Amino acid sequence: MKTIISPSILGGSFSNMEKVISDLDQSKAEYIHFDVMDGDFVPNLTFGPQFISNLRFKTKKIFDVHLMIKRVGTYLDDYIKGGSDIITFHYEIDENLNELVNKIRENNIKVGIAIKPKTHWLEIKKYLHTVDQVIIMTVEPGFGGQSFMNNQIKKIEDISNYIKENNLDVNIEIDGGVNYETGKLCIQAGANILVAGSFLFKQENLITATNKLNDFFN
Ligand code: DX5
Ligand code: ZN
Repeated sequence: MKTIISPSILGGSFSNMEKVISDLDQSKAEYIHFDVMDGDFVPNLTFGPQFISNLRFKTKKIFDVHLMIKRVGTYLDDYIKGGSDIITFHYEIDENLNELVNKIRENNIKVGIAIKPKTHWLEIKKYLHTVDQVIIMTVEPGFGGQSFMNNQIKKIEDISNYIKENNLDVNIEIDGGVNYETGKLCIQAGANILVAGSFLFKQENLITATNKLNDFFN
């Protein structure tokens, strides 16, 4: 199966976002990953829907929007209108998740559900029948540049097996601490989308680094 690379712009400088998006536009990455944080669900604050919509016209790449926010329902319309292609919210929020799934779908946007490292995969089992992707967090959400948690590999295998056994059409995206080595473990365990932030941005040339990571897995 093909591996999709979803570079997380959180690894780049916010003062340089036009250049980051234009570099990624020229790269082999299919997705661009946007980490939205509200300072409440996670102890960090990033950007809102306007930031995303301002960048929407710079590229046709798939905008993979990861909402690490509590009040998804309140702001969902703005992320829908902002030009998201995939919207993923967290299982751990206190909202009616089926309503969120339906609302996203009604707008012809793909929908994902994300789980934190401490959340057992069986808790989201039923949602695997209604979403397009699952994000398995391999770091505690909130910050880029953390180390990959090896103890999440079993979870990737279990979800992947469940998806196969039930013939579901669900992508498995891994978010946190991805590099060549950890990415390989995830792909072997059944993942097919890799988010990469600091690993790509700490290299000299973002386009070359992204293409190399893509080619390594394809
Ligand atoms: C963490 C974010 C990740 C992060 C990944 O809360 O969801 O997308 O930016 O960054 P790295 O690849 O540096 O772990
Ligand atoms: Zn993310």
